[in-house]
This record gives sequence, C-alpha cells and structure tokens, in this order.
Amino acid sequence: MDLFEKLDKLRQEGLKDINQATDQKNLDKIRVELVGKKGQLTEILHSMKDIAPSERPKVGQEVNQIRDLFQKQIDEAKNKFVQALIEKKLAEEKIDVTLPGRKGHLGSQHPINIILDDLESYFIAMGYSVVQGPEIETDHYCFEMMNLPKDHPARDMQATFYIDEENLLRTQTSGDQARVLEKHDFSKGPLKMVGPGKVYRRDDDDATHSHQFQQMEGLVVDKNVTMSDLKGTLEMIAKHMFGQDRKTRLRPSYFPFTEPSVEMDVSCFNCDGKGCAICKYTGWIEVLGAGMVHPNVLENAGVDSSVYGGFAFGLGLDRFAILKYGISDIRDFYTNDVRFLKQFRKEEN
Ligand code: PHE
Repeated sequence: MDLFEKLDKLRQEGLKDINQATDQKNLDKIRVELVGKKGQLTEILHSMKDIAPSERPKVGQEVNQIRDLFQKQIDEAKNKFVQALIEKKLAEEKIDVTLPGRKGHLGSQHPINIILDDLESYFIAMGYSVVQGPEIETDHYCFEMMNLPKDHPARDMQATFYIDEENLLRTQTSGDQARVLEKHDFSKGPLKMVGPGKVYRRDDDDATHSHQFQQMEGLVVDKNVTMSDLKGTLEMIAKHMFGQDRKTRLRPSYFPFTEPSVEMDVSCFNCDGKGCAICKYTGWIEVLGAGMVHPNVLENAGVDSSVYGGFAFGLGLDRFAILKYGISDIRDFYTNDVRFLKQFRKEEN
C-alpha cells in the first residue's frame, strides 16, 4: 500500500470513528489517536524522511487537509454532545416561570399586643414616656414603696407568687411608679409615664380570671395636678379605646397607693348594660383602677409631697382586648390556639 492509499484509508476510518463516538470522553480518545502528538497523522509526517523529496509537499498537503477535516468533524461532534447535555439538564431542571408564586405564611399580631401598641402610641403622642419594669420584682418596689408595708391588710387583695422572702412575681405594674419617681429630675419637667407588662396572681383560671395577665401603669406627677386631670385622662382613654357610645363610670375605691381612689367601669359589650353572665348581671365591666398618688408614695421616693402631686392608673390590657373584640374567655389569650389568633391577622397581601 503506498502512502496515499494509507492516507485515504486513515481518512475513511477516522471519519467513521468520529461518527461513531459515543460520548465526549470517547471522542476525546479518538481525537488523541488521530490528530494528537503521537497520533497516526503525526506518525505519517514523521516518516516523511523516507519519501522522495518531490513527493513531500503533496503528502504534507494531504496530511494537513485530513487533519483539518478531522478537527472540523471532531468539533462538530463535540458541539453535538455539549448541546445534548445542555438540553438534558434544561429538561431536568425545568422551571415554569408562569406558575403563581407560593404565599408565605404570615403570622398575626396577638390581640393584646394590638391594644398595647395602640395605647403606647396614644400615650406617646400625649407626651408620656414608656418604661418597662421587671416581672420578677422585689417586695420593696411592688409593695413597701407603694405604701403597703409587710403587715398591711391590703396585701391580701393580691395573692402573690413569692420566690423568696424578698423576690416575687409582680402582682401589679405599680412598682414601676416607685422606680420612676426615685429617678425623675423634676427640674427638667413633669413626670408622665406608662409602664406596660405582665403581672401574676394566685387566681384560679376561669373565663374572667387568669393567673397571668397584662397591665399598663400610668403616672403623672407635677405641681398642681388635680382629680379633674385624672378624670379627663381616663375618659379620653375610654373613648379612644371603646368609642363614643360605650358608657363609663367612676366608682370610689381603695388602693393603698392612691387617695382618693377610683375604679372605672365600662358598659358591658355583650348586653349593652342590661346584665348578662359576662358582666355578672351588673351591666358593667371594670377596666381600671386609678387615683391621686398617695403622699407616702411620693415621700418614699424622695419627692416633696407638699410641692408635687399627681395621679396614677393601672389598666388591664386583657380586659381592654376582651371589650374591644368581644372575647368571652380570657384564657384564649394564653392558650395560643392559632384558630383564635388568626382572627386578628391583618389583610394578607
Ligand atoms: N395596681 C392596681 C391593681 O393592680 C391598679 C392601680 C394602679 C390603681 C394605679 C391605682 C393606681 O389593681
């Protein structure tokens, strides 16, 4: 077989091999065999020295042509494999961009927090600051400073969870009053604060009682603060929360830290004052206690009661939420049933 026949055979077999390549790896092996440094074409080029010089250019030309042809076919075959691979991947990882997106699950604000946020903004707008006292409170701040010495009979009004002799779960947020009074610098202006938070009492849980509930304490101290300031403030709160229609009334009451003391009732949302099980047939629901700050509370905190005076109130956030949303069982606030909580979800978008 002469060299040209050999080359012709190589061309035919090479093309056939390239066509029959099964995958990229296989194709690469064929490429090395045909046009690689130690491939068959290179081998023929190396054997040029055995050929008559007059033949050499022709052989060289032929070899180059075959190499170009191989290279072209190899590139084409390679492209086909790459293309097939891309198509396979695309088919596997198909994303339908026209599908509607999945909605995320939105939580909802707890009804008590809705009331809390609303009241906080309301008081902040009126120049009050918001403070937060500790839930594990000392006997000192929760009681002693609030004019409730250890043997005071009024301590029976609030069954307390004691942790030890001095520490307890606060039964009221009133301790915040003493903490703030002690620190306030009256040369910088009047004291106006609200203190929201959880309180605890050894109550048996039922539809209207919970061993844990939430209060918001309020305290205003300045020169010349009067009972009518208190009355006006309480009425404004009631109207803001429950609307113009709900009736309110103040009843004389007793708290050791206020003198005189009052309780504010709001007409029952369920029977509109006619009397039902929820209002215990009185037509009224108690929402807050209040009064003029007792001079002892001021003096205990180092504030001159002959110069300064003020009012304080403590409202039940749970009671506010019950009234506002017509909830008949206080325990619903603390059992975290999502079906209950979902009702307070804001508009989903
Ligand atoms: N601390 C009282 C209570 O828990 C409420 C209250 C606060 C009353 C401030 C008067 C003034 O019942």
